[in-house]
Amino acid sequence: MQCKRWNVNILLTGGNGYIGSHAAVALSQAGHEVVLFDNLCNSRADVPGRLGRIFGRAPSLVRGDVRDTDLLRKTLCQYRVDAVLHFAGLKAVGESVGMPLAYYDNNVSGALSLLRAMQQGGVRTLVFSSSATVYGEPRYLPMDEQHPTGATNPYGRSKLHVEEVLADLAASDADWRIACLRYFNPVGAHESSMIGEDPNGTPNNLMPFISQVAVGRRSQLRVFGGDYDTHDGTGVRDFIHVMDLAEGHLAALEFLGTNSGWHAFNLGAGRGSSVLELVRAFEQASGRKIPYVIVDRRPGDVASTYAKVDKARQMLGWQARRGLVDMCSSVWRWQQNEVEHKKESI
Ligand SMILES: NC(=O)c1ccc[n+]([C@@H]2O[C@H](COP(=O)([O-])OP(=O)(O)OC[C@H]3O[C@@H](n4cnc5c(N)ncnc54)[C@H](O)[C@@H]3O)[C@@H](O)[C@H]2O)c1
Repeated sequence: MQCKRWNVNILLTGGNGYIGSHAAVALSQAGHEVVLFDNLCNSRADVPGRLGRIFGRAPSLVRGDVRDTDLLRKTLCQYRVDAVLHFAGLKAVGESVGMPLAYYDNNVSGALSLLRAMQQGGVRTLVFSSSATVYGEPRYLPMDEQHPTGATNPYGRSKLHVEEVLADLAASDADWRIACLRYFNPVGAHESSMIGEDPNGTPNNLMPFISQVAVGRRSQLRVFGGDYDTHDGTGVRDFIHVMDLAEGHLAALEFLGTNSGWHAFNLGAGRGSSVLELVRAFEQASGRKIPYVIVDRRPGDVASTYAKVDKARQMLGWQARRGLVDMCSSVWRWQQNEVEHKKESI
């Protein structure tokens, strides 16, 4: 596949979700045709319509499960797919501890099903949504791609298993072109405020929680741990704007246009920010006070984690450009827009 010959057809499994929908914008605006494949277990049916309002034409959505190999194979053929971005998966670390089989089934069996369909359909280019969780406890910082892997929960292990399957596959057949993108902490929303992170129920991630406190849906933020060995005692993470992350997928696809084999890249901002720094940036962006209370540490959380991003910069020609205030103001606009949208539809 040569991505430089524009109008490549790209299938986005889980393309209706948070990161997939933002990647759809970046890919479409670069001239590619995108098709979404999603079972909507964690996203809403109106996402294609919202994407259409951003880039002029709603992309096709195939409603299906990635464990349905036949449907995937037919979809690859029907849309003459050249490359796949595999976002579909379950992603809540805590939930994965209580439901390991559901996580292995969805994330590992789902990936195997996709790979079988790709093999049968003759599609050999894949970008996989991996995670910094594959590194487990940080042994040094910043973490580069050589950092030992060793996940500490079923979610992380499901990602690691799939990465290993992909490495074996690439070693078995030189036609495969595979990039595993190890995301750090994606936050933010597209500037149009048409799409953003919209979790069902109580958010697992910090940013949606902060924004729900800001609009009054929740009374206060619970900060897990105020006694870590960090500059303000709260956990330090590598927050990356979701549109920077989306552009990282475009860069990875272009890279795979001229490089076969298996490759892993960190996608992060390359710097750590504490939970309280994010809270302050959100207050600055929104003009609202975010009440918070410091509670006990959560089991399994580490003090600090952030990425070394030199490999992506050198090999993909990509780096994150947007800062914390950008991330927060985009989420604030998106959250307000959603509140208005929900009022209108009542
Ligand atoms: N958001 C993060 O913080 C983060 C960090 C690291 C890695 N990731 C990975 O990135 C990917 C995308 O994450 P996201 O934040 O956009 O999550 P998301 O839940 O918003 O999107 C995932 C999408 O996949 C769909 N899906 C799930 N299982 C499916 C299945 N079996 N068949 C078809 N569709 C299915 C869901 O309906 C959803 O639309 C996931 O694989 C996740 O593990 C996310």
